[in-house]
Amino acid sequence: MSCPATESNLGFEISYKPTDRQASLAAMNKWLDQPDAHMIPVVAAAYDSSTAIEFDPDVIGATVDLLAELADLAGGGRANAAEFAIGTGRIGLPLAARGVAVHGIDASEPMLAQLKAKPGADAIGTTVGDMTETAVGDDFALVYLVYNTIMNLRSQDAQVACFVNAARHLRPGGRFVIETMVPELRRLSQGETILPFDVSPHHLGFDEYVDFAEQILVSHHYHLASDGTARNSAPAFRYVWPSELDLMARLAGLELESRWGDWDRSPFTGDSTKHVSVWRKPG
Ligand SMILES: C[S@@+](CC[C@H](N)C(=O)[O-])C[C@H]1O[C@@H](n2cnc3c(N)ncnc32)[C@H](O)[C@@H]1O
Repeated sequence: MSCPATESNLGFEISYKPTDRQASLAAMNKWLDQPDAHMIPVVAAAYDSSTAIEFDPDVIGATVDLLAELADLAGGGRANAAEFAIGTGRIGLPLAARGVAVHGIDASEPMLAQLKAKPGADAIGTTVGDMTETAVGDDFALVYLVYNTIMNLRSQDAQVACFVNAARHLRPGGRFVIETMVPELRRLSQGETILPFDVSPHHLGFDEYVDFAEQILVSHHYHLASDGTARNSAPAFRYVWPSELDLMARLAGLELESRWGDWDRSPFTGDSTKHVSVWRKPG
């Protein structure tokens, strides 16, 4: 319900307005009803070029260094890892090249098709499925979910289910690692909802905080091609606080082991804009 409605079956007219909350939920559904854009073949085909900054060798090197070390820690000679939402294999492929046995789950067949076309893909197992429920084993040293993708799960229940599913995959002593942003609400002035996160010649990006109660933001992207054409997308996410993730981990029987500000193990502080967190399964 997004506009005032009337009822007249009582013999007189009652005019009522939806509460602010109802109006907000209705507006939000417009965003939440959209399927994840990575299911679309052209989006999957453009993924690597549209996220080029994340493919910087230094970014990948630091990520893989830490993940390989964590897979070894609980590996007992069998360093293996399950990647939730592996996508086109940005991290899974180089981690496998380090000798870690990687199995990736992703909901998008087009993203997995991109992965499978790359050199080294034969070394990786893949399963099409939802990371909140798909199981591919129960003896992994490491499960990891990077690049803000916990936020692709757009409800608290789905995020909790993801933790429970990760814990289910781990052997005792195994680790679950998440890399995600810290919500930037404090950058918003009173009454404002929109924050630019990238204003560069070929891309304009704005996060719109559409629902503070359900923790939903919409990232508006405008990609500007050199021929003058533009493409836009507006995926919705559920942002989540580090402390809330710790509670989800507890619900799944995991304990916080480390939290860093980045893959280089820099300290996590009140000024950190992202975190790399490690929860351990006791045992
Ligand atoms: C931003 S990409 C990240 C891909 C890869 N991990 C990387 O770092 O480049 C997000 C990925 O999450 C996948 N995804 C979204 N929701 C999912 C779900 N519920 N279960 C499994 N995969 C999901 C998408 O298909 C997409 O491949």
